[in-house]
Amino acid sequence: MVRIKRVVAVAVLLSGASALPRRRKLYHRQEELPPAEERTQAVIGAFRTAWDGYYQYAFPNDELLPQTNDFGNSRNGWGASAVDALSTALVMQQKDIVNQIIDYIPTIDYYETKTEVSLFETTIRYLGGMLSGYDFLTGPLADLADNKTNVEALLEQSKTLANALSYAFDTPSGVPYNNLNFATRGNDGASDNGLATVGTLILEWVRLADLSGNSTYGDLAAKAEQYLLNPTPSPSEPWPGLVGSAISIETGVFTNANGGWNGGTDSFYEYLIKMYIYDPSRFSDFADRWVLAIDSSIAHLASSPKPRPDITFLAAYNGQNLSLISQHLACFDGGNFILGGQVLHRQDYIDFGLELVNGCHETYIQTATHIGPETFGWDPAAVPADQASFFNRTGFYIRDGGYQLRPEVIESYYYAYRATGDAKYQEWAWDAFQAITATTRVGSGYSSISDVNAEGGGRFTNFQESFWFAEVLKYSYLIHAEEAEWQVSREGKNKWVFNTEAHPFRVAGGE
Ligand SMILES: *[C@@H]1O[C@H](CO)[C@@H](O)[C@H](O)[C@H]1NC(C)=O
Ligand SMILES: *[C@@H]1O[C@H](CO)[C@@H](O)[C@H](O)[C@H]1NC(C)=O
Ligand SMILES: *[C@@H]1O[C@H](CO)[C@@H](O)[C@H](O)[C@H]1NC(C)=O
Ligand SMILES: *[C@@H]1O[C@H](CO)[C@@H](O)[C@H](O)[C@H]1NC(C)=O
Repeated sequence: MVRIKRVVAVAVLLSGASALPRRRKLYHRQEELPPAEERTQAVIGAFRTAWDGYYQYAFPNDELLPQTNDFGNSRNGWGASAVDALSTALVMQQKDIVNQIIDYIPTIDYYETKTEVSLFETTIRYLGGMLSGYDFLTGPLADLADNKTNVEALLEQSKTLANALSYAFDTPSGVPYNNLNFATRGNDGASDNGLATVGTLILEWVRLADLSGNSTYGDLAAKAEQYLLNPTPSPSEPWPGLVGSAISIETGVFTNANGGWNGGTDSFYEYLIKMYIYDPSRFSDFADRWVLAIDSSIAHLASSPKPRPDITFLAAYNGQNLSLISQHLACFDGGNFILGGQVLHRQDYIDFGLELVNGCHETYIQTATHIGPETFGWDPAAVPADQASFFNRTGFYIRDGGYQLRPEVIESYYYAYRATGDAKYQEWAWDAFQAITATTRVGSGYSSISDVNAEGGGRFTNFQESFWFAEVLKYSYLIHAEEAEWQVSREGKNKWVFNTEAHPFRVAGGE
């Protein structure tokens, strides 16, 4: 659930695949939930299919273009899918793939890239993937590594990568630049950085500091985070805990008052409670800010569509004006409310989170493919004429019907299941997994699609995102999998915490 909008290279979307024949398997809902073993094996099967296609046609590039058996490099060409797949291969205990990945990681040259580097994307995918691999392979899954040198290299390469990135924080305020040019040690000249891109570094950089013993990594991220925890000027915090979306790199002050739980601001809120889970003694003030944001969201952002008073979404805002628009990206919110509710023993937060999970479930089950759209709205004054009856029935209209193999809805089903033990959420996750794999399977893997509300999903847009491995397949697997110490705890006592890319880290003092 990230968070900021992922940029898919335009060249990829324009690649001339449109003349190829398309697979058009229509999705049909299965009434019976098969045994758990069958469900976990099906998810592992999808993971291995996607991995094999990537390994054959794209490795060690970043992504597979499944329809054309080609590759993309949207994440600096360091092998994003391989690094992002590691922690999922680990929890699924796919030893051969684990070793293919950890044999490769020591060979990455993180100082070398021809394209702009995103501090945020690099942190959540590469740093997150390697640190999680290190935590598992020095901990409960150590037996899966054939070569201990490769395990140590996960931490060494994490330090190397962070050292390469760290000049981003060398600004007057300590708020980093997000977009870096390694060749010139420069940046894109932006005057502001975003809430999510600044506020979704702290977990990874603090974990690296704790594992490496070099506190500088954590201090860099913590200094930037201080501006987010103590926002100025006051109009940029329209309600307590809910803040704007852009921060001046020069001064650390907020430059607007737009926000909510959509892409660009989302994972700042996610990490407030996750830092408290990581280490409640060092990060209790993060939990205080999270509680403020949650209370304000429940009081001011909760919104039910006119034709469907039974469902709840969270609105976005500009100052105190609401905008009735949400996104697939925002659908991690239910899971995050539930997680925090468990940890802080707040049943009201869990109950509200379950309402949000139900709203996002509706965005899935109402479409032709049983997959939810990228962006949707519920302002009755803004419904396109051709969606009027759809809106009357469903309570939302589709603003962007694409689906880019995003995880957030299944992620929230996972937290809902872990909190309640209610098999309904496993059914929802199984239904979503069936719908997604039936609709997006093409060529050597799984592809983004153009229209979730067209039979068969519209066009294949020929891109298999790295977070398909890291997130969708991990949450789809874990919700049906056996108990393990890395599974989210029902009692709110977690030994592991998942970064925003679904890479689990051992909590501080958890070893
Ligand atoms: C283990 O990995 C290291 C670093 O990748 C490599 O140099 C070494 O040859 C490997 N050892 C074995 C036994 O494969
Ligand atoms: C600790 O990390 C910082 C930030 O990357 C780096 O500049 C410094 O050299 C590191 N210190 C040691 C002792 O490695
Ligand atoms: C909020 O809406 C009011 C009334 O339409 C408008 O005057 C005001 O400028 C809006 N505020 C923002 C921050 O957009
Ligand atoms: C949608 O509902 C409104 C209010 O009930 C009604 O006026 C309108 O005719 C309906 N539109 C369609 C297309 O069903």
